[in-house]
Amino acid sequence: MPNVVFANRKGGVGKTLSTFYTGRWLARAGRDVTLWDVAALLGRPDGVITKRLRLSPDNQIPVAPRGWVLVDTPPALDGSLPALNEADYLIIPVIPEAQEVAQLTKFLTMLADTRSARPFTRVLGILPVRYIKQWPSNQAMVGEIHALAAQFGHPVLEPVPFSRAASTYSLRGGLWRQVANHLLAQERGRAEEQARAA
Ligand SMILES: Nc1ncnc2c1ncn2[C@@H]1O[C@H](COP(=O)(O)OP(=O)(O)OP(=O)(O)O)[C@@H](O)[C@H]1O
Ligand SMILES: [Mg+2]
Repeated sequence: MPNVVFANRKGGVGKTLSTFYTGRWLARAGRDVTLWDVAALLGRPDGVITKRLRLSPDNQIPVAPRGWVLVDTPPALDGSLPALNEADYLIIPVIPEAQEVAQLTKFLTMLADTRSARPFTRVLGILPVRYIKQWPSNQAMVGEIHALAAQFGHPVLEPVPFSRAASTYSLRGGLWRQVANHLLAQERGRAEEQARAA
């Protein structure tokens, strides 16, 4: 089953929380989910979070016979490159602020320049995270993100709003649910494609 890598060259953009929450919603939808490299954040030495949600046991990106593998990446780009090159899908979390958007431009340029290293990776979308829609500056930056995404031919996913619930790992408010739904839609698309090919 496919793996999804959450990456950005910038630290502190919501990669870990995006990985974790997307995994929780997929598990909620009945999918088998393995998270890679969020152990430190979650402090679960046994690796088991819920019945359907577990951490990869040996610090390797697992090849799961079924279900989804969600891969968190470290703050520095160098550490993310090996994971990036193994991605079926890439999701790029970004905070809608000027500095972050400048970094995003560099990241997207790097991805475009090194695309031949990842022939099978599909950028599923740029994901604005910690979005405060009442803030004009945040709105303006989401506009910039859309413009940039269009320039590079990538979609923009529905923003994850700022919420204090995020740091409690609560599913209240449906944070990141749309990302899981997007992955489930990909799953349906793949199944239909396979059925047509059969
Ligand atoms: N939707 C949200 N609402 C409120 N706070 C958020 C939200 N998303 C992320 N945060 C906060 O932003 C900070 C960074 O999030 P996170 O740790 O997921 O980023 P990261 O990209 O994994 O960081 P690093 O590069 O350091 O690993 C955290 O303090 C987290 O609680
Ligand atoms: Mg992190």
